[in-house]
Amino acid sequence: MALILGIESSCDETAAAVIDGNGTTLAARIVAQRIASQDEAHRPYGGVVPEIAARAHVEVLGPMVAAVLADAGLTLDDMDAIAATAGPGLIGGVMVGLVTAKALAMAADKPLVAVNHLEGHALSPRLADPSLQYPYVLLLVSGGHCQILEVAGVGLYRRLATTIDDALGEAFDKTAKILGLGYPGGPAVERLAREGNPKAVPLPRPLVGSGEPHFSFAGLKSAVMRAKDSGIHADADIAASFQQAALDCVVDRTRIALGTASSGMTALVVAGGVAANAALRGALEALAADHGLRLVAPPPKLCTDNAAMIGWAGAERFALGYSDPLDVAARPRWPLDANAAPVRGAGVKG
Ligand code: KG4
Ligand code: ZN
Repeated sequence: MALILGIESSCDETAAAVIDGNGTTLAARIVAQRIASQDEAHRPYGGVVPEIAARAHVEVLGPMVAAVLADAGLTLDDMDAIAATAGPGLIGGVMVGLVTAKALAMAADKPLVAVNHLEGHALSPRLADPSLQYPYVLLLVSGGHCQILEVAGVGLYRRLATTIDDALGEAFDKTAKILGLGYPGGPAVERLAREGNPKAVPLPRPLVGSGEPHFSFAGLKSAVMRAKDSGIHADADIAASFQQAALDCVVDRTRIALGTASSGMTALVVAGGVAANAALRGALEALAADHGLRLVAPPPKLCTDNAAMIGWAGAERFALGYSDPLDVAARPRWPLDANAAPVRGAGVKG
C-alpha cells in the first residue's frame, strides 16, 4: 500500500481523503473520503465569499482529518505522505489546508506533497479509470478554469486552449444568477434545461468557426441577460438554449484543439466541476468517436472539488520521488503549463 492523506480547501469545499496509490481499482484506491460543502454559507451572497470560506475551512478541517483516518481504520503514522492543495485558488482557504498539512507532516515526520489543484483535476480521470494511459487530451472545465491541455505525464502539460474571459462553470453560475436559480448554478441550470427548448432563444456562439481554439463566454452571458430582460422567454427555454450554445462552443473549440494535438493521444478526457454535466458528456462522446478516441470522464462526484483527486495526484507525484519542503508557499495563481503564451483578454484565469 502507498497511503496518502489528501487535503483540499481551495474554494468552497473542505475535503480530506485517504488514498492507496497502489490500488488497482477505484474502490481500492479511495480508502476513505469526506467532503463538507459550504453551499449554505455562501448561498445568501450568490457566490463564494473568500473570508467565509477560509473561516469555515478552519472550523471543519481538523476534525475532518481525524474522522477520515478513523473511517479508514488508520492513523497518521500509517501514511506515507501528506498531500494538500497548494494553489491555485482562494488564498485564505489554500493556506488553511496547506498549513494543516504542514503541521501534520511535521508532527508525524512525514513527507509533504504540495499539489496543484488543477493537476488534481487533470489526473482525476486516471484515479477513476486505471486503464487510462498518458498522453491524453484534457478538457478542464470548472468554476475558475476553462482549458484544453495535452497531458503527457505528471507535471508535463502543454496548453492547447484557454478562455479569453469567463470559465465555462462561471458562465453556468452567472446564467443561474440571472435566472434566480441560486448558487451553485451549474446543476440547477442543467436541471431546468431539461424542461426547456434548446432552440427557443437565439443566442450567440462566441468564437465558433475561429481557427484559434480559445474559449469566450462573456458575450453569451450578456445575451442571456438580454433574453431574460426581454420578458418574452420562459426561464426553462433560456436555460436550455444557454446550455446548448455553451456546449456548441465547447465542442467546436475542442474539435479545433484536437486538430492541433500531437499524435498518439490515447483518449479525450474531461474533468472539473462542469464535467458532471450529462449533456456535455454526451456531446463530447460523439466528438471523441469522430476522432477515433474514447471519452473518459470521472464519475460526477469526482468531477467537482474533492480530496480524493488531491490525494491521487499526491500519490502519483510521490511515486515519482517528488515531495516539497515544509516552507513551500501557497500560490493563488499556478498555471499547469508555465510556458503557455498569454492570450488576449483581461479576465484570463490561471
Ligand atoms: O471543479 P469545481 O468543483 O470547482 C472549481 O475548481 O471551480 O467546479 C465548480 C463549477 C461551478 O461553476 C459549478 O456550477 C459547475 O462546476 N458545475 C456544473 C455542474 N456541476 C457543477 N456545471 C454544469 N452542469 C453541472 N451539472
Ligand atoms: Zn476545482
